[in-house]
Amino acid sequence: MREFDTPMGLQAQPEVTSSYGSVTRQMRAELNQQEGCVVWFTGLSGAGKSTLANQLEIALYRKGFRTFTMDGDNMRQGLCNGLGFSAADRAENIRRIAETARMFVDAGVITLVACISPTREDRVRAKRIIGPESFLEVWLDCPLEVCEKRDVKGLYRKARTGELKQFTGISAPYEPPLEPELVLQTGQVDVDTCVASVIAKMRPQRTVLQSPLS
Ligand code: ADX
Repeated sequence: MREFDTPMGLQAQPEVTSSYGSVTRQMRAELNQQEGCVVWFTGLSGAGKSTLANQLEIALYRKGFRTFTMDGDNMRQGLCNGLGFSAADRAENIRRIAETARMFVDAGVITLVACISPTREDRVRAKRIIGPESFLEVWLDCPLEVCEKRDVKGLYRKARTGELKQFTGISAPYEPPLEPELVLQTGQVDVDTCVASVIAKMRPQRTVLQSPLS
């Protein structure tokens, strides 16, 4: 059993044992010429998480890296289908995304997660599941007023009228990270600059070993 299972509220399963394959994470990393890692974008709806993840993925792809983006909206249509926006459902949403991202990291993929992930507790748990050395928390610090003005999906309007309940920033809380690896003021800074800032943070962490194209 993994040591974090009990605090996460998972059931102990004494009848289940781990099976270890012969091809290790390190062997996959060498074959891929890169290490897997997670860049975890957190912030309000409309802060620019999906946009930034997309532009970052394009930039990494062009450099020859193997990447994948897990976007909250998309995850909720598949793996996390059926989960709502209560605190418990959000916690389960984040847990499933984190567990999946963990497998992608083991597989050697640079995994970009774009989900609100509004509570510190859920993000700390995600970091523990994935492994702190492979986890880069990026807070998109965009004022609520800016996100609400953008209102790309028209959800803030619905939240204000009460049509949409438990909406983050309006009728449900968002807890900013206390010690994120990176803070981006996405209300002021353009997306290319944000992409460059994230890539600059990835290198010293050795999450990117070398570019096959450079
Ligand atoms: S999280 O809080 O559980 O991390 P997640 O990122 O997966 O949320 O999904 C957020 C997306 O769901 C938003 O981008 C928005 O399109 C949609 N959504 C629908 N209802 C809500 C709500 N009550 N609060 C926040 N987002 C919502």
